[in-house]
This record gives sequence, C-alpha cells and structure tokens, in this order.
Amino acid sequence: MNANQPTPMRRREFLKETVAVTTALGLSHRVFAATDDTEPKLPEGKKLKVGLIGCGNVSGSYLPHITKQPFLDVVAVCDIIPSRAENRAKQFKVPNVYPNIDEMLRGVPFDLLINTTSMPSHFPVNEKALRAGRHVWSEKPMALTLKDARLLMDLAKRNHVHIWPAPTCVTSPQFKFMAETIASGRIGKATVGRGTYGHGGVSWSGWFYEKGGGSLYDLGVYNVTTLTGLLGPAKAVVGMTTIVNPTRKVEDRGEVKVTADENTMLIIDHGNGVLSNVQTGFVQFDNYRLPGRERQLYTVDILGTKGAMHLQGWDWGPAGVDIAHEEEHVLETQVREPARYNWVGGATYVAECLLTGKTSLITPEHGLHVLEVMNACHESQRTGRRVSVETSFRWPIFG
Ligand SMILES: NC(=O)c1ccc[n+]([C@@H]2O[C@H](COP(=O)([O-])OP(=O)(O)OC[C@H]3O[C@@H](n4cnc5c(N)ncnc54)[C@H](O)[C@@H]3O)[C@@H](O)[C@H]2O)c1
Repeated sequence: MNANQPTPMRRREFLKETVAVTTALGLSHRVFAATDDTEPKLPEGKKLKVGLIGCGNVSGSYLPHITKQPFLDVVAVCDIIPSRAENRAKQFKVPNVYPNIDEMLRGVPFDLLINTTSMPSHFPVNEKALRAGRHVWSEKPMALTLKDARLLMDLAKRNHVHIWPAPTCVTSPQFKFMAETIASGRIGKATVGRGTYGHGGVSWSGWFYEKGGGSLYDLGVYNVTTLTGLLGPAKAVVGMTTIVNPTRKVEDRGEVKVTADENTMLIIDHGNGVLSNVQTGFVQFDNYRLPGRERQLYTVDILGTKGAMHLQGWDWGPAGVDIAHEEEHVLETQVREPARYNWVGGATYVAECLLTGKTSLITPEHGLHVLEVMNACHESQRTGRRVSVETSFRWPIFG
C-alpha cells in the first residue's frame, strides 16, 4: 500500500460505525414518507414478498432492517458466491437460497427484488428482474449508462412494475426542511450549494476501484442527489477526477489496479445563476467519524442571498440543520429530532408505497438525472469541456 494512501475502511469497522451513527442519532428501524408525519395505514395482513440479491457488505445492514418489517416477507437470498448467500440465509432465517438471478427468478415467487450487488451487476440483474415482472429496489446507480437506465425504465413501464434507485436522501426530514425553507424564501434566493463525502476507500472488494465503480458513483452520488433535489435539475457540469494510488490492496482479490476515480471535484450549473459543487473521494482521512465532538460536522451547505443552512452529518444519515438568516443572526439547529428515517430503508419505503398507493419521493427520473450528471463529470474529465445535461425530473420535490 502506498504510504500516502489513507487507511481504508474495513468491513466490520464500517458496519460498526454506521450502526453507531444510526444509534447515536436515534434512528429507528422504521421509515416513513417525508410528506407526512403520521404512520401510513398499511392494509391489514398484506405482505410483500421480497428477494435480496448480492450478499456482500451492505446486505449486512439491509437484512437486519428488512427482516424486522411486519409487512415484508424475505423469502429468498442470492449471490454468485453461494457461501455468502447461505451464510446470510442462516443468519437471518431466510428459507430459500440461490446461486444466480436466473435460478432465483425461477424459484420461490416474490414481488420485490432488492439489488445490493456490485455496481457493474446492477443493470443486468435489474433487467432480468423487470422482464420477469418483479418490482426492483436497486442500489445506486441502477445502470452505468443512460441508455441502459432508460431501457430499465421503459421495461418497468411496459411490464406494469416499478424500479427505484438508491439513495434515500430525499426522504429524510432534514431534506424536507431544507427544501421547504428554500421554497419559502426564508434564506432569500438559494444561490450556492456545497457537498462533501469521502473516506479512505473500502478494504473488502476490488470492483470499487475499477471502471464501473469509483468514488463518484459510490459516495458522490448522495450529494448529487441532495443538491439537485434542493437546487433543481442540472443544466451543465464541469468535473475533474484523479487516481492517487496506482494499486489498492483488497480482501477479495489482493492487489488491484486502480482504474476508477479516487478523487473527484464536480461543479454543477443548476440554471438561473445557481451553482453547486461536490467533493468526493477514496483518498481522504475520515474526520467525519472521529468520536468526541459535540455535533456532527457539516457535509452539505446551502447559501442564499439572505441566509444559510448547514446539514449536520451526512445527507444519508443527517443529524440536524443549522440555519441563520437576516432576521435571526444566530445559527440555530432545526430538525434535530430522531428521524424516522434509515439509509437502508429505501426498499422498505418503496414497499410501503406499493402497499398503500402513496407516491414515492424517490423516483427513477431523479436517479436517471443523477446518473447523467455523474457521467457528464467523467466526460468533462476526459474532454476538458463543460458538458450539457439533458434529463430532468419533477422539481421542486417539496413546496
Ligand atoms: N457497503 C456499504 O456500506 C454500502 C453502503 C451503501 C450502498 N452500498 C452499495 O451497495 C452495493 C453493494 O456494495 P457492497 O459494499 O455490499 O459490495 P460487496 O462487493 O461487498 O458485495 C456485492 C455482492 O454482490 C455479489 N454479486 C455481484 N454480482 C452478482 C450477480 N450478478 N448476481 C448475484 N450476486 C452478485 C458479489 O458476489 C458480492 O457478494 C453497491 O452498489 C454499493 O455502492 C454499499
């Protein structure tokens, strides 16, 4: 390992940390729509059958959550490394285990596929599930190219099912508060956005460092979702990415050559004079997880002509919003209350939408747009040019 390389996160450490953050913030294992604060009425006795594919690191966070929901019945798990699926099945008492998506789709019936495979596998797995008439909750991004993502959305429409991509940021109460504050004009015209999310990289799987992986798809995606969600669809993008370490050591494959972005800076033009930037990477000391501070550090800032908002903690695990404006010159923390929100609660959230008919705040159109912004960043790095963005989504999300 290069001496300049920050310490990568180990699998157990990361799970422990995320559980600790969740607990510290008082996040419950239930997730609710940000549109109302009342518990949605689920039809009595109605359950959705669920299959989860991809039994790697993040499945260790998803499964404890989804197996606790009274309206979800997790009937199958699958992984191309069958021992991983068998272990998860034993750990979470899941009755059916499959070694690939084809056998899974031919096996025990289920309604919703949760796709937590590695990013390059998202598209082929999502496509097969949609063709088989299953709803899909996909980890981000749902596909690596716009063409493939559009194909998935068309397939879903044709087969009368849905596909929703992670992340879940727009369902947090803190996101709702920030979006409504911007819409109210309380901070004047929101002109500037800043987002940051990075750490030293992960230790467990090589694909994170190869084409189809990278820090922008894995980490920057949260800030791109939040900033476009708050400030509006992007019109154009400028970006730079670098590789800092020629190789990385990982648990599954030893030493791998790094071919995906490790250090990324992205500038987004939202139109009407509004700009934002996102900094993300696998090459930085993770000061956000240091213990012993009074409050979580800021990771998202929104500056307006008459005020400013700063998000405490990550946008996928927020702890409150500090706000100051012309009439109130003191930074005050809002929406500090424990959120009925969980970063692995996306599949639960969309399952509730399916069961209750509630409209999802997470949409494939927003996921497609975020993918276009990220790919435009890569294109800008390749060409040295500013790149236009064509897709859009329903905005504002609140207000
Ligand atoms: N690890 C985290 O904390 C975390 C957090 C948020 C989101 N995510 C996202 O979750 C996804 C998975 O991340 P991870 O860290 O668990 O990766 P991982 O490498 O630990 O696990 C991926 C698993 O998918 C399996 N897999 C790959 N292709 C498959 C296929 N075609 N069919 C069946 N199984 C297949 C692999 O064998 C592996 O077990 C990624 O999109 C990642 O960005 C991860």
